[in-house]
Amino acid sequence: MGEIRVAIAGTGNLCSSLVQGTYFYANAKEPIGLLHTELGGYKPSDVKFVAAFDISEEKVGKDLSEAIFAKPNQAPKVVNVPKLKVSVQMGPAPDLTEEGALSSIKRSSAKAVDVAAALSKVRPDMLINMVSGGSDKASTLYANAAINAGCAFLNTTPSSIAGDTTLVKNFTNAKLPLAGDDLLDQVGATAIHIGILEFLHSRGAHIDESYQLDIGGGTESINTLEKTKDTKRSIKTAAVTGHVPYKFPLVSGSTDFVDFLGNGRDSFFWVKGRYFGGVPFTMDLKLSSEDAPNGGSILLDAIRGIKVAKDKGAKGLVQPVCGYAFKRAERTNLATAYKAFRDLTG
Ligand SMILES: NC(=O)c1ccc[n+]([C@@H]2O[C@H](COP(=O)([O-])OP(=O)(O)OC[C@H]3O[C@@H](n4cnc5c(N)ncnc54)[C@H](O)[C@@H]3O)[C@@H](O)[C@H]2O)c1
Repeated sequence: MGEIRVAIAGTGNLCSSLVQGTYFYANAKEPIGLLHTELGGYKPSDVKFVAAFDISEEKVGKDLSEAIFAKPNQAPKVVNVPKLKVSVQMGPAPDLTEEGALSSIKRSSAKAVDVAAALSKVRPDMLINMVSGGSDKASTLYANAAINAGCAFLNTTPSSIAGDTTLVKNFTNAKLPLAGDDLLDQVGATAIHIGILEFLHSRGAHIDESYQLDIGGGTESINTLEKTKDTKRSIKTAAVTGHVPYKFPLVSGSTDFVDFLGNGRDSFFWVKGRYFGGVPFTMDLKLSSEDAPNGGSILLDAIRGIKVAKDKGAKGLVQPVCGYAFKRAERTNLATAYKAFRDLTG
């Protein structure tokens, strides 16, 4: 089928797992953890990284294969990545302020490049936005650069890009596909919360109340605490709401930061309900996971999904990719979302 040319904004932990995944699965004896070895005719090894942007002095100017292991990244190393001959370029940093977690990024002294011009030189199929949560202005800048350079856009961040009607219209007018927002992790708290509630409903239980809260380490957890707590809470709660056909008190959100958890995350789930005879039950669960690899498999699917959609001439929001791979998406249940994605990718 050929290669999938991918440009990256934000060479942090998620980027590290994504880049490593394309090499890990090229040689893995068993593709454990990979949802699809082939999708629409494309394998993970068909993904070719052609450009990367960051703003950190630890990463700008380095080869992408080195930047993904530079501080403060701490995604688990699962494979050696060869030199990629893609030098990380200085991106725009309009969200970098004196306060908050973004200020802990040591800004490179390099001059920001013209992102659209840099993209045009390497003709990517898509730009994947993986910048720090809360970087709303930068996310919009990267989305507009993708339009100007004529490539598709995937927004893994909680910034509203797929949720912005003007941007969606602009992608549609430019005949370019777009999917987002906020990646729905493979074995992540939101997907599991949805799964638990769908399962209980399918077993005839009535749910009276439920919450899901997280504790995480790493830069993105500080960002969630300081910059995106309300956005994250509203995206996550909206993502879970509607999977059961009646309303009940429901809260889903990230809450706090514990530095020594590193890239790890503890997710807590609570459900109170009733079953036969109106007899009550409660459920109290905890999931411990690593953030970055939790996004890798879904992201590799989303990349291939958006490439197939692009090959088919899709423009604007690609709903089957959004429903399958992102939290902010129209979705009635996971099974229907998976079917729509499979129908798209054949
Ligand atoms: N499983 C997951 O990791 C997961 C799941 C859902 C959503 N997300 C989202 O994906 C994004 C990346 O997550 P992460 O864990 O890799 O974060 P991270 O903090 O490890 O990495 C973010 C990277 O973006 C860079 N950056 C910040 N501003 C930039 C700019 N203006 N231009 C270019 N680069 C910039 C930072 O220097 C850093 O290298 C976040 O927005 C997060 O909310 C991740």
